[in-house]
Amino acid sequence: PAAVIVAIDGPAGTGKSSTSKAVAAKLGLGYLDTGAQYRAITWWMVANGIDVEDAVAVADAAGKPAIVSGTDPVNPTITVDGTDVSGPIRTQEVTSRVSAVSAVPEVRAVITELQRTIAAEAPRGIVVEGRDIGTTVLPDADLKIFLTASPEVRAARRSGELKGKEAADLAATQAALAKRDALDSGRKTSPLAKADDAVEVDTSELTLDQVIECVVTLVEEKR
Ligand code: C5P
Repeated sequence: PAAVIVAIDGPAGTGKSSTSKAVAAKLGLGYLDTGAQYRAITWWMVANGIDVEDAVAVADAAGKPAIVSGTDPVNPTITVDGTDVSGPIRTQEVTSRVSAVSAVPEVRAVITELQRTIAAEAPRGIVVEGRDIGTTVLPDADLKIFLTASPEVRAARRSGELKGKEAADLAATQAALAKRDALDSGRKTSPLAKADDAVEVDTSELTLDQVIECVVTLVEEKR
């Protein structure tokens, strides 16, 4: 079959990453975590002492780091200037700053270009997860999914993923997620949004396996 492009968008904690990786692995497609790219550029800004609230400084630096994403769903990798940053991009320090960096249009232009190149080069197709994939990055995707879940369910899932001292209590996690979503949904340049032609899947009452099954079925219908 021809290469199939699947866009999976939605807020944090809806199961986007777990679902996207599993669907890609099952169908033999590539996988791209676009949130990891925004986290990687944010990590680089912090490591280089750039104030992420200074949009001019962030814009000026946007093209400097070389971000490379691997597309194997079983072992997704991400490097910045050759350094593996898979661990450091998940820290609270990066998570709390990524929305400010990703709101800067010059950052989005650089990252969007990378994403389109990766998607175009995926030999059998790819599952791309993010916030603006269906609306902006890949508006001609073969299938667009928009995942949602209640705020309580999302916070519970996210705190389950956090480890050690970063495992904040549920209320704090819920507040942090709400803040990040408000910033991501409220920004001017390609905010978090459901594309008109996306299929919305509310995952609140579904197991991960059920969500995966649902998306796999939708992809197969498109092939
Ligand atoms: O998906 P994840 O939670 O790792 O994304 C981290 C952040 O990256 C989001 O909160 C958002 O600010 C940004 N992002 C974005 N556009 C995307 C994917 C992620 O702005 N397509």
